Parts: sequence; structure tokens; C-alpha cells
Amino acid sequence: MITPRTAPSVHLRQKGLYPPPCRIRQLTSTCHKINYQTGYRVLPVANHQDETRTAYDGVVELYASLFANRLETQPFSRAMIGTFAELVRATGKLRTADVGCGPGHLTAMLHELGLDAFGLDLAPGMVDHARQAHPALRFQEARMESLPIEDAALGGVLAHYSMIHTPPGELPELLAEQVRVLARDGLILVSFFGTDGQEPVRFDHKVAPAYSWPVDRLAELLGDAGLDPFARLLHDPASDRGFLDAHLLARRS
Ligand SMILES: C[S@@+](CC[C@H](N)C(=O)[O-])C[C@H]1O[C@@H](n2cnc3c(N)ncnc32)[C@H](O)[C@@H]1O
Repeated sequence: MITPRTAPSVHLRQKGLYPPPCRIRQLTSTCHKINYQTGYRVLPVANHQDETRTAYDGVVELYASLFANRLETQPFSRAMIGTFAELVRATGKLRTADVGCGPGHLTAMLHELGLDAFGLDLAPGMVDHARQAHPALRFQEARMESLPIEDAALGGVLAHYSMIHTPPGELPELLAEQVRVLARDGLILVSFFGTDGQEPVRFDHKVAPAYSWPVDRLAELLGDAGLDPFARLLHDPASDRGFLDAHLLARRS
């Protein structure tokens, strides 16, 4: 049993997700378990999904106020999502999951682009927000590691900055789960923090620990999962973030 945790009293002094969030990291990394036989607290026990869920639940309104804007200031992401939607439409299989949908704004965008889109997120607060903001669309609490979707059911999967919190060692399995639900020729768009290095790098994202990826390495993982990563877009936001805004578009072979 996990001891009751107060939701992180997130107080973000700066807008945006960068730079590193010492305060939030401290709060989210103190998940204790009580061993009721010994009475001792055991540290740390939080798996990363619990940590991510609690952290996002604590910032729903703030996150939505900053980012639920259908990418109006991010033309490169918008272009990739438009391309993704067009290619999914061309498969004739319109059913598309926005995995890690957060406040649901991109689910709404996919819907407007003609897809039968629905959103999934592990944070119940995000799902509640998405349902209220977009009452005509479907949202459900779910983990990307175990999707409540039958095999080969989807024409598209959008993972816009939602795999960023998955530790590198767990990413192959996570990708395999996305591939399981994609129909043959179905498409996946993965957007993430790119890095110039050779290895994925863990960093203190403002909400929960995250990883940036060398784009070739992530493309390789997509290939290993049975996908053909046939298009990519890298954008240097020219800010002090130190990350590339990276997008990989792949098709299930
Ligand atoms: C950076 S936000 C991105 C939200 C949205 N895709 C967007 O671009 O605005 C990451 C989202 O992914 C969700 N998430 C992270 N790990 C997840 C997992 N393993 N399963 C489902 N959702 C996850 C978080 O709860 C959060 O809402």
C-alpha cells in the first residue's frame, strides 16, 4: 500500500517546462511505502508512471493554460500533425488514438482534421479536463503500456511529447504496444526532445523526469518494433532549452 500523498503543491515560478524543476522533482520523488510488518518507510518505491501521473495531476490547469492551444505557436509540430492526419485519412482507417493526450487539444485538432480521434492519458485530472473542454470527444484514463484497444484496430497513433517520461529501457515494450494496436499501414507520429548526442539523456523536465533522444537512435527503435520510420522533422527552437523539437513519422509494415 502506498501512503497517501498530497498532490504536489506545484508552484511554477516561470512559465514553460524549462529549465529544471528542483521543487517539483523533490516533491514527486518522495513517494514512500510503509512496510507494515516492520513499520519502516521504504524509499523510493514510486514507479515512474505513478510519479508521472501524480505530477501531471498536480499541474492540470496550469499545463492547460500554457499548452492547450492546438500548437498555435508551434508551426512545425502543426505541420507534422497535419501531414500525419492526411496520411491516416488516406489509409481509410480513421480511428486514431492520441496517447498521452493531456488536456485533449490535439485530440480535438485530429478530429477537426477528419479523423475519428480519441484521447488516452494516465493522469485522471488530464482526462477530466479534456472531457470538459471537448465534451463531444472520447477520453479515457489509460496507460500507453497497456492500451484498452484491440489488436490492429487503429489507422493512427499520435504520441506528442508523451513518451518523453518513459525510461529508455522500457521504450521498446511501449512501442511494441503501440504497434500492436496499429492496423497494417497504420501510422504513428512520435514527437519528442531530440539531442545531438549518442545516447538518450535524462533531464529534469519541469513536471516529471524526462529523456531526450538522439533522433537516429529513436528511429532505430521504431524500426526494431516493426515500423518503417520514413519521415522526420527536426526543429531547433533557438532558445536556451538545449533541445531539438523532433518528430518521427512511421508506418506499420
Ligand atoms: C508533455 S504532456 C503532453 C500532452 C499532449 N500530448 C500535448 O502535446 O500537449 C505528457 C502527457 O503524457 C501523459 N503520459 C505520460 N506517460 C504516460 C503513460 N505511460 N501512459 C499514458 N499517458 C502518459 C501525461 O500524463 C501527460 O498528460
